Amino acid sequence: MTAVTARVPAKVNLQLSVGPPRADGYHDLVTVFHAVSLFDEVTVAPAERDTVVVTGEGDGSVPLDGSNLALRAVTALVDTLGPGCRDAPGVSIEIKKRIPVAAGLAGGSADAAAALAACNELWGAGLSPQELRDVASQVGSDVAFALLGGTAIGLGRGDQVTPALATGTYHWVLAFAAAELSTAAVYAACDRLRASRGGRPGKPGEARRPARPGQVEPPQLDTALMTALRSGDPAELGPLLTNDLQPAALSLLPDLRRGLTAGREHGALGAVVSGSGPTCAFLARDARHARDLAVALAGAGVCRTVATVVGPAPGATIIGVAAEKS
Ligand code: C5P
Repeated sequence: MTAVTARVPAKVNLQLSVGPPRADGYHDLVTVFHAVSLFDEVTVAPAERDTVVVTGEGDGSVPLDGSNLALRAVTALVDTLGPGCRDAPGVSIEIKKRIPVAAGLAGGSADAAAALAACNELWGAGLSPQELRDVASQVGSDVAFALLGGTAIGLGRGDQVTPALATGTYHWVLAFAAAELSTAAVYAACDRLRASRGGRPGKPGEARRPARPGQVEPPQLDTALMTALRSGDPAELGPLLTNDLQPAALSLLPDLRRGLTAGREHGALGAVVSGSGPTCAFLARDARHARDLAVALAGAGVCRTVATVVGPAPGATIIGVAAEKS
């Protein structure tokens, strides 16, 4: 084999409930991931040394050194398989980006997942999906989900994923912001906001036993959301979208509020910041409504650009294998 290409989706979070900070700096989560049809493509090929080339959306802000998530994924895979796993001393990684960088859509994690799936194929390593997800967990919290795709529940720091029972196709508009947000900065802002408000329940809007000052209750899966997902009805799902990181993202980028309001005014069934933001996700009634909503949001001047996508989308998938010429 001379090259393998994998395609991998962006994600939004339908529920993102964040627990208190852990000793290791991460937060325990209960989240519902949903992969959407905005894809990056990653091609890996044997090379004299490890290299990364990035083209497309936001290519200038993706690191090309050892901190690149796709390269870190390859290193983690080599560590798992042993140095004899590959014929050549290195691997070239070519990333074609359509998922914006630092946008709350797990684009970097997606590239890491694609690199794992593609190298597993390139080297004939034969790791099972669960074995690949175990390697993925070492690379980042969202990488295991990018391998799995679909709609899934994420526990732990988000890396323990299980497929969710969901039916139907959901039509979304993604509104991309001009700014980027660092995930770590948004989690830190969330902790600060909670500390200043004397702790917060795991899920906004739900009646719960009041938290003691400074205490954050453990997050719980929203059973109404799971029921809505089984119904396949976007009108049921829309009002149930929640994100504990949204107040933090809005505190760092207050202008996002205008976009969320504009989306609701144009009939979005649900409007939520995606992950740590700043991308906002709007749930539409159907494909036509998504197109109308996209036009309205673009015209309102509340974002850099918009995209219509559908979910759930499949996780990292091999889409091309170039065989050696004999
Ligand atoms: O795992 P990942 O590298 O994607 O996480 C980026 C940052 O986001 C972490 O360094 C941490 O600050 C924050 N994070 C967190 N709790 C999680 C996931 C991420 O605090 N469950």
